[in-house]
Amino acid sequence: MNERQNRTTEPNSAVTVIGLGPMGRAMTRTLLTAGHPVTVWNRTAGRADGVVADGATLAATPGEAVGASDLVILSLTDYRAMYDILDGATAPLAGRTLVNLSSDTPDRSREAAAWAAGHGAEFLTGGVMVPAPMVGTQASHVYYSGRGEVMERHRAVLTLLGAPRYLGADPGLAQMMYQAQLAVFLTTLSALMQATAMLGTAGMKAAEALPELLSMADSIGAILRAGEKEPGTALDAGEHPGDLSTVTMMGATADHIVETGTSLGLDLALPLAVQAHYRRAIENGHGGDHWTRIIDSIRSPRGAR
Ligand SMILES: NC(=O)c1ccc[n+]([C@@H]2O[C@H](COP(=O)([O-])OP(=O)(O)OC[C@H]3O[C@@H](n4cnc5c(N)ncnc54)[C@H](OP(=O)(O)O)[C@@H]3O)[C@@H](O)[C@H]2O)c1
Repeated sequence: MNERQNRTTEPNSAVTVIGLGPMGRAMTRTLLTAGHPVTVWNRTAGRADGVVADGATLAATPGEAVGASDLVILSLTDYRAMYDILDGATAPLAGRTLVNLSSDTPDRSREAAAWAAGHGAEFLTGGVMVPAPMVGTQASHVYYSGRGEVMERHRAVLTLLGAPRYLGADPGLAQMMYQAQLAVFLTTLSALMQATAMLGTAGMKAAEALPELLSMADSIGAILRAGEKEPGTALDAGEHPGDLSTVTMMGATADHIVETGTSLGLDLALPLAVQAHYRRAIENGHGGDHWTRIIDSIRSPRGAR
């Protein structure tokens, strides 16, 4: 480890932000507000205008941006973008810490950490769990993984973006948590649109349908927490007691959703996927179990019990 990497981030230390979509711009503004000098770079330079007006410095090249700060935050569409930007600017990476808050796969985060190490840089993976306007607020939290020492060194600055939740040394872990969270988020968003489209066939406007549907989405956490045990405890113990609801009952409803969508001419991809989880559990003899039994259909998609 060299001298630069050993330093704890100073209260007003310089930070570089590469990638100025809504998320990168929100992070830049949060850091500027807290008094940090921020250097920015973006492929489309015009996207920097707003944050430059707020006090950020626009670097002429990615190399100049990396060279401006020990801590370099990346907020890009994916990890390919990081290589597109930094492959031609690897010399200044030595001694810096890259914090990549972009979406991608856990394996690509691990590869990127090794790539960074090959250029003498530290690497943290992160996943921001709030939309851009909420960055820097009390409601914001961000998952991180990577070397614990590096996390501690930059914790104070990173806390400005949102409460850090550090998951461990494996750089793939925070990315996996991000994908797990987004799997819930994106599937729910598609379910909301599926349901809005269904009600729309009866003439109901989205303005009327969505508030009804959102109250269901809001109540799911409370429903799952209402059991006697913490959600997940029974599942971890391999217990799926079907005393309050069963795979057979839920599977019948999954069938009805498919039939309703079929008669209305709607896209069936999502309802069929849900139906398949229940059908497989029933075929495997678990119709009397709690709905959590469908996890087996997901863990072993080829039908193993
Ligand atoms: N927006 C949100 O509410 C939100 C919430 C949580 C997490 N996130 C995550 O945060 C990250 C950034 O989100 P965003 O909404 O700010 O995304 P965005 O608007 O899509 O911005 C992506 C950034 O990546 C750059 N980029 C993409 N491909 C590139 C390439 N090949 N070479 C160079 N630059 C490239 C874009 O540059 P150009 O400007 O030149 O196109 C832009 O700066 C994403 O990984 C997203 O999953 C976003």
